[in-house]
Amino acid sequence: MTMRHPLIAGNWKMHKTPQETEEFIVKFLPKLANVEAIEVLIIPPFTCLDRAGKLLQGQPLQLGAQDMHYEEEGAFTGAISARMLKACGCSYVLVGHSERRELFHDDDTIVARKLNAVLDADLMPILCVGETLSEHDLVEEKISRQLTEDLAGIDGSTLARITIAYEPIWAIGTGKTATPEVAQETISIIRRFIVTNYDEASAQGIRILYGGSVKPANAASLMAQPDIDGALVGGAALVAESFGQIVDAVRS
Ligand code: PGA
Repeated sequence: MTMRHPLIAGNWKMHKTPQETEEFIVKFLPKLANVEAIEVLIIPPFTCLDRAGKLLQGQPLQLGAQDMHYEEEGAFTGAISARMLKACGCSYVLVGHSERRELFHDDDTIVARKLNAVLDADLMPILCVGETLSEHDLVEEKISRQLTEDLAGIDGSTLARITIAYEPIWAIGTGKTATPEVAQETISIIRRFIVTNYDEASAQGIRILYGGSVKPANAASLMAQPDIDGALVGGAALVAESFGQIVDAVRS
């Protein structure tokens, strides 16, 4: 791993109540007692954020949201704004997760608007990109197209506030992890895209995570790759023990 500040993020998706969130946090926080130089983040459902934010005040565990509306407020039934997330103590927001893109029709225009709204609100976006199995042979084209559209209008200094997560859709929740070599290869393609469209310093500075069936058993070999700066974890982040083991794998 490089000088970039690693991030281990747990996306809980549609799992856990506020009470279950509290139980997780109480079990998980002691595991971070000696963790330095790694940022650790949980991303619970909206209904758990307020409770989590109160428990996490002053703690070395960050809080994020799974999605956000791009408007500041208004008649958008069911939607959640940046101001609401900040009031709960969130510092990060996922943007363009493949489940949002596929199941909730967040296309690249919407993803770009959300990304800008997150940045305008002084929150930190984690922009997710990735290809399906049938697109894998053309992974560079797919990811370049997503990044071109999603990052439209973002200048170099703003780019530094974005974390990118490469998540091959065929590896999400399937138990099929990309091998460390495949993950490294695609993430290096993303870094080359940043060199071409911004500059070398931006490419070296930007943090890029891998996501897709990250588990305690494969975390260390994935994180040992030179271009992988952390993990976006789904299923294994729901249990304090396994999420803690992934954090441990990155430290060692
Ligand atoms: P998974 O999910 O670890 O359960 O594959 C990853 C994600 O969707 O972020």
